[in-house]
Amino acid sequence: MALKIGVIAGDGIGPEVVREAQKVLDASAAKHGFEIDYTEICMGGCSIDRFGEPLTEEAKNKAKASDAVLMGSIGGNAATSPWYRLPPQKRPEAGLLGIRKALNLFANLRPSLLYEELKGACPLRADTAEKGFDFIILRELTGGLYFGERQTIEENGIRKAVDTLAYSDFEIRRAAVKAFEIARKRRKKVTSVDKANVLDSSRLWRKVTEEVAKDYPDVVLEHMLVDNCAMQIVKDPAQFDVVLTENMFGDILSDEAAMITGSIGMLSSASLNDTKFGLYEPSGGSAPDIAGKGIANPIATILSAAMMLRFTFDRDAEADGIEEAIRKVLKEGYRTGDIMSEGCTKVGTEKMGDLIAERL
Ligand code: IPM
Ligand code: MN
Repeated sequence: MALKIGVIAGDGIGPEVVREAQKVLDASAAKHGFEIDYTEICMGGCSIDRFGEPLTEEAKNKAKASDAVLMGSIGGNAATSPWYRLPPQKRPEAGLLGIRKALNLFANLRPSLLYEELKGACPLRADTAEKGFDFIILRELTGGLYFGERQTIEENGIRKAVDTLAYSDFEIRRAAVKAFEIARKRRKKVTSVDKANVLDSSRLWRKVTEEVAKDYPDVVLEHMLVDNCAMQIVKDPAQFDVVLTENMFGDILSDEAAMITGSIGMLSSASLNDTKFGLYEPSGGSAPDIAGKGIANPIATILSAAMMLRFTFDRDAEADGIEEAIRKVLKEGYRTGDIMSEGCTKVGTEKMGDLIAERL
């Protein structure tokens, strides 16, 4: 049976990088003898332009009817795009938050891996880069500040805005369970990141992760305060295996974790619920400044497609094949502009996709 993949090309560099990921998926399908049935889904800015809203019922239903969704990126330049003159709930980002909630995608995985070939592009101290690192951030994605009650009011001439950080035990538990399950298949360590010296939501987070840890005696649980974690990621990233954290902390730490790999253009991500469904997208944004120039790095999106084959479709051999092809291309010295270094061959988006597809 054909794999049913929904495709949200989205805005900015989204369509360019998604095209290359589909090219690589198609090459993998031809090689391993499976079929893919793609359904295009319109979401984000392009959906605002066509339908006046960032996420339509039809788009949600198409995503729900797919086994998995491959996404590029959504959003534009907040200073210049007319999308950002709309009220917040009508902007492109609302589409992304809406689909996360509608599909209950509570676990967002963002791996941070320093490739041997890209050590030179790592902005950390040379001895830290030399040690390498390979960790994964599990960011809770459907709770906390992003989805708590919010309002802006004016009282007696004073303007006041409120955002609420709320977590229920079951939301923490299901994210923690995923983190421990993943750690079990890796180096068996979970670092749970919170701000338990200040926040009640973090104190509950700590209690619940400790309850979950009792079911995983083979996995080590440690707690770390988020400000310290931000420091440790640049000081000694090799200490981490699985980092478990709430939505907002995870948003910030995952950009930091992406940057130390040399480029945000290298990082994949998966957003999962408790079925096999997943939404797979690069960690980076829509990069409107370079959109349409054919220079964006498609590797993060291609790696996201590999994650899809692994997590949703249990096709580990095919996923390994794609990851191996990427390593080969990097070893041969091909680079997009964001990861370019001396002595390498600079290529554009399409060429990078071709090279990877050819090496499968
Ligand atoms: C991300 C993005 C989104 C987030 C934005 C676009 C709403 O930054 O996926 O990390 O904050 O979750
Ligand atoms: Mn972010």
